[in-house]
Amino acid sequence: MKNEYSVALLPGDGTGPEVLAEGVKVVQAASHKFGFNTKFTRYDLGGERFKKTGEVLPDSIINELRQHDAIYLGAIGHPEVKPGILEKGILLRLRFELDQYINLRPVKLYEGVDTPLKNKGPKDIDFIVVRENTEGLYAGAGGVLKKGTKDEIATQESINTRKGVERCIRFAFQYTQKRNKSKKLTLCGKTNVLTYAFDLWERTFYEIAKEYPDISTDYAHVDATCMWMVKNPEWFDVIVTDNMFGDIITDLGAIIQGGLGIAAGGNINPEGVSMFEPMGGSAPKYTGKNMINPLAAILAGAMMLEFLDQQAAADSIEIAVQKALINNVRSLDAGKMGMGTKELGDLIVQNIVDQ
Ligand code: IPM
Ligand code: MN
Repeated sequence: MKNEYSVALLPGDGTGPEVLAEGVKVVQAASHKFGFNTKFTRYDLGGERFKKTGEVLPDSIINELRQHDAIYLGAIGHPEVKPGILEKGILLRLRFELDQYINLRPVKLYEGVDTPLKNKGPKDIDFIVVRENTEGLYAGAGGVLKKGTKDEIATQESINTRKGVERCIRFAFQYTQKRNKSKKLTLCGKTNVLTYAFDLWERTFYEIAKEYPDISTDYAHVDATCMWMVKNPEWFDVIVTDNMFGDIITDLGAIIQGGLGIAAGGNINPEGVSMFEPMGGSAPKYTGKNMINPLAAILAGAMMLEFLDQQAAADSIEIAVQKALINNVRSLDAGKMGMGTKELGDLIVQNIVDQ
């Protein structure tokens, strides 16, 4: 365990800087309590920089980011920039260039938070999705011919490599073991239709499973997974899936855990630099109003500390958030929390100090 960490801050667009500022406050409070230092270096990437300079993500910044212990991201997306430019140019490019091959997304309903699922509570909704993060439909394979004509042809291919699938599945087995809940790993795929890609996933899954005899395995098609996530979320412990399916089912996951105000994720390279982010977007209409919910960013900060091997500090943040949700937070929606963005950040800091 180190006693000093350097973290690159990418506040980004819209409300990104506001939620990240609260996350930084909280991470600093937890670092202080547990006797280590976290130093932050800010990089201004996003819509404003792009509008001013035309730059999306200079190579020199990527190389600087490689030197940090972790990256902490606010939000990417600007109303005056064509959709796709910043998302692909910053978020997806970083995931690819830094080979963050896992996107880890906990789906956890905290006590005190409402779920739209009838008769389900915190003991039913507590699982985690391991989403492959560098391949599949996101790899950018394909192209277009005769664009704009009646004969236009567009293809977009899903790339699945043995190496990419295997390292993702292996991570999922290891994470299931470490999590130590019901020790069950579910592969989510579509073996009945995507008979090349998910045949590779399925064969790899059961091959690797032999190395983890204490983990029980299960399989569900992606459409059925969506149904079970609503009907019987308690069946899941860890779900592993490809990039596109993971993108879709984790939005469903976010909503059953209370919404994007509380959903956090990590883009993990277990051998390199990982990047932690709230799942929600830049919510431009709330910018500068002290109304946006910072809890997802704060929980992403806890996840970052977990991956920096500071589990006790990570736990202290989660406990502080849980306490605020039970006692103080009225709603997770922007403007309805019963307090402002900054005040909620201060409350979490106070809860850490008081532990
Ligand atoms: C996410 C987002 C991104 C994705 C977008 C913004 C490119 O939806 O992190 O889930 O599709 O991965
Ligand atoms: Mn998404």
